[in-house]
Amino acid sequence: MSGLTPENLHKAETIVALYPERRSALIPLCHLAQAQEGYLTEECMEDVALLCGVSAAEVRGTASFYDMLHTEPVGRYVVAVCTNIACMLAGAYSVLTHAEEHLGIRVGQTTHDGLFTLEEAECLAGCDKAVCVQVNHRFFGPVDREGFDRLTGDLASGRLDDEVPHHGVLNRVERTHELEAHRESEGAER
Ligand code: FES
Repeated sequence: MSGLTPENLHKAETIVALYPERRSALIPLCHLAQAQEGYLTEECMEDVALLCGVSAAEVRGTASFYDMLHTEPVGRYVVAVCTNIACMLAGAYSVLTHAEEHLGIRVGQTTHDGLFTLEEAECLAGCDKAVCVQVNHRFFGPVDREGFDRLTGDLASGRLDDEVPHHGVLNRVERTHELEAHRESEGAER
């Protein structure tokens, strides 16, 4: 395990410069660190702490509070099946039970090949897709038992690589334009 790469350290410093208080960059930097390894390593959390001027415990406390952030290793794909009311009425528990059998793991576990982590989710705000399944923060649905097999099969084969990057990558296109504009305006003020 390692801390932030030189490239990500540079990105992190650029992000920190966007905020009047360094600590305000804590969540964006957690996402940056998570995109690097798929989860927040201890070393990356320490780097984020130094960059934000907070303690490593504060970074861990923040990261462990949010479902979107993981402080333990997860699979390439974090698959979350919503079991809240709309999805439950559409058969979510049947899909979730099937998912456990199909993947050979229980909720909260990761397959031996490191490909899938299975989670049970509260409402994902995709009720029109009930049963809604979220993979690395991308939404799929309605998903039934057969649809779950197709979805995980497509993920495993790489057929959805363009649509679903590895866990932690939020954006396919990184924001650079505004960051560069910000740096330019900073230079002009000097
Ligand atoms: S109840 Fe499942 S997405 Fe809302």
